[in-house]
Amino acid sequence: MRLVKISEYNHHTMVLAKPIYDSKRRILLAAGRTIIPKIKIRLQQMGIRFLFIEDEVSKGIHIDDLIDMPTWTESIGVVATFHNRVNSGLTPDLQELQQVVKKLIDEVKSRPILILIPASTMPKELQFYAHTVNVAILSLITAKKMNYIERKLHDLALGCLLHDIGKMITDQYEKHPEIGFNYLRNLSQFSVVSAHIAYQHHETMDGKGFPRGLEGDDFLEMAQICGVANYYDNLIAQDQLPPHDAMEAIMASADQLYKHSIINAFRQSVPTYPPGTKVMVNGEEAIVTQINKHLQRPIVKVLSNNKELDLAELPTMMIYPN
Ligand SMILES: [Fe+2]
Ligand SMILES: [Fe+2]
Repeated sequence: MRLVKISEYNHHTMVLAKPIYDSKRRILLAAGRTIIPKIKIRLQQMGIRFLFIEDEVSKGIHIDDLIDMPTWTESIGVVATFHNRVNSGLTPDLQELQQVVKKLIDEVKSRPILILIPASTMPKELQFYAHTVNVAILSLITAKKMNYIERKLHDLALGCLLHDIGKMITDQYEKHPEIGFNYLRNLSQFSVVSAHIAYQHHETMDGKGFPRGLEGDDFLEMAQICGVANYYDNLIAQDQLPPHDAMEAIMASADQLYKHSIINAFRQSVPTYPPGTKVMVNGEEAIVTQINKHLQRPIVKVLSNNKELDLAELPTMMIYPN
């Protein structure tokens, strides 16, 4: 299985490896199907930009042990319902959201490596919610690396799932952190720390963030973690950068926007080349088949001769984007 841009999809050589959902999270096309050109255009109109496919090149590549797809889509559903209720002025179900938080923490704890499913594998109506789930997952894997205890992981994930809740209440972008904070801190039984994550997720160490322009590491570490995760997911989802380019940008932000220790933990938790990525290895085209011992040094298969190379064992071999 591998992830391809929908524009690269070829119905002669590829079949779907994961189902495609509509805006109500109902299965639109099941795994195993091919997509004829007419349908492909419709999917593109729905805002879907990436597909999980199976083809000759991707044979033997498994990502199922790197993320639980049902957990991901269910989380998106709960988060969507929560946001919609806030948007309509109704009382949201916090307990349901706490269950999602627990599930996501279990996911992150049980998997040595986790990969991100791009929000743009979903129709555009769901992409905002997929974004918040991704921000929560990225934050949790970073915090796990930083040895956070369960209670803190919980506050962090909850704050991340609701970091943009202010957008449901105001159309003024610069105001969403503060309005979100005011909403959350008045919610009964809601953690104050989680509310502050929403308040501070656009602050940066250089003082150029908003709404308060806080300087130095004067703001919550958890808000910084959420900020990094938010920045990364936006680079992928909105700016459409490939993971390795997004990671470069994140690394360049160390000590400028976010604390070095957080960037380091992030880099050591998020794979630069997820399985299924086409890469170049010492001048030859190859595909990442597995991440085993080293996050930055995966196992690759050279396309010309199907030979597998474990880059963790071959330190002199160069890997770079294709
Ligand atoms: Fe935001
Ligand atoms: Fe965001």
